[in-house]
Amino acid sequence: MTTIPTSGTTRRAPQRPVKAAADELVDVSFTVNGTPVTIAVPARMHLADALRAHLGLSGTHLGCEHGVCGMCTVLIDGDAARACLVFAVQAEGTDVVTVEGLGTQDEQHPLQQAFSHHHALQCGFCTPGFLMSSYDLLSHGEGELDPETLPEELSGVICRCTGYRGILAAVADVAEAHPDGIPAPLNCAPRTLVGRGGAAQAPAAPDAGPEGDVAEQAPTELTRPTGTPTITVEVRRELTSPVGDVWAVMDDVDRLARCLPGAEMTADLGGDRYAGRAKVALGPVRLAFEGLAQIVERDADGHRLSLLAQGADTGGNRTAADIDLRATAAPDGGTVLVAEAAVFLSGRIAQFGRALAGDVSQRLFEQFADAVDETARTGVAPEVGAGPSALAIGVQAVLAGVRRRVAGLRAAVQGALARRRR
Ligand code: FES
Ligand code: FES
Repeated sequence: MTTIPTSGTTRRAPQRPVKAAADELVDVSFTVNGTPVTIAVPARMHLADALRAHLGLSGTHLGCEHGVCGMCTVLIDGDAARACLVFAVQAEGTDVVTVEGLGTQDEQHPLQQAFSHHHALQCGFCTPGFLMSSYDLLSHGEGELDPETLPEELSGVICRCTGYRGILAAVADVAEAHPDGIPAPLNCAPRTLVGRGGAAQAPAAPDAGPEGDVAEQAPTELTRPTGTPTITVEVRRELTSPVGDVWAVMDDVDRLARCLPGAEMTADLGGDRYAGRAKVALGPVRLAFEGLAQIVERDADGHRLSLLAQGADTGGNRTAADIDLRATAAPDGGTVLVAEAAVFLSGRIAQFGRALAGDVSQRLFEQFADAVDETARTGVAPEVGAGPSALAIGVQAVLAGVRRRVAGLRAAVQGALARRRR
């Protein structure tokens, strides 16, 4: 039996003593970035791993896992804490804020803006730790910040690749701009976290297939995701088939599912809810998701479908998507098919860059749209699991990303040369 210490090196003792076997999962409930969550974790799992692997909050980085580097700094009940030194079970009942709660891409916290302005990062690995540690410093500080002692105040986080000057300048700037107190974190509100704690649980989907342990991981109830998605995708494809024929495919869930590369519908659960599985491969990473989909709106006149999908694999990867699919008649007699999706990822897949995840989604949709066109034209449903291999899609996406970066680099070099000539 493992006894979880109720005191020691961490800053907060659990509200109740917990005893659990080493391989036993323990339920822990806390609030993270304004969202109440309950996750089942091994008693020995530290908070940083729980945030990253169970809740998809991979902004909390891990360096030493010994309390030295400060990369894993988060706020627990308003105070900075090393998430690698806090057992997840010790977060019971606390209010945790991670770097994701500080601000968003569109609405950055003043600290994030200042770090950007002062080039206070190079690789960015230490940046979440520095941001949270700086927030703690400025939110607890009394009186003016002393530039002499600032380096020491921030010495709890170690940066391995950029100069500290930018970091110190950024923090000093924010302190000066907000003498009456630093603004609170800007991105703390109830939202969907697609980790195991974020997906609601209900009876398992029937006929989940031979991968029994996969079925255990799969989400069993659909909820509309909220908050900031990992990526948003909007893709448009011109099809040759008339809109009536395209809608006939969209209105037939079995045919529609067969059009998605690597996807397969395994059960019709009634109420426009379906169980299914999908395989995605990206280079050496091969994922097999089990999940659920539900059509939440079906507009036959407007040729529009709105659906929710959630999936999980055995490796702790989770995905949820809110998808809108619209077909409109094109002047040439064909159809314009548009998909808009808000995609939420957690686990290892959340660590793929946004651009790469976006490219993969784009390629998947293009293949899907072509398959819809084909089956609308021929009236023949694709074979289950037919379509190009997901691996090919992944490789195409990587190549597209490389091509885009090379083009960007070429444009930057040409711009620089042109400026020098002037
Ligand atoms: S990873 Fe927590 S202090 Fe280094
Ligand atoms: S910016 Fe690279 S470790 Fe700090």
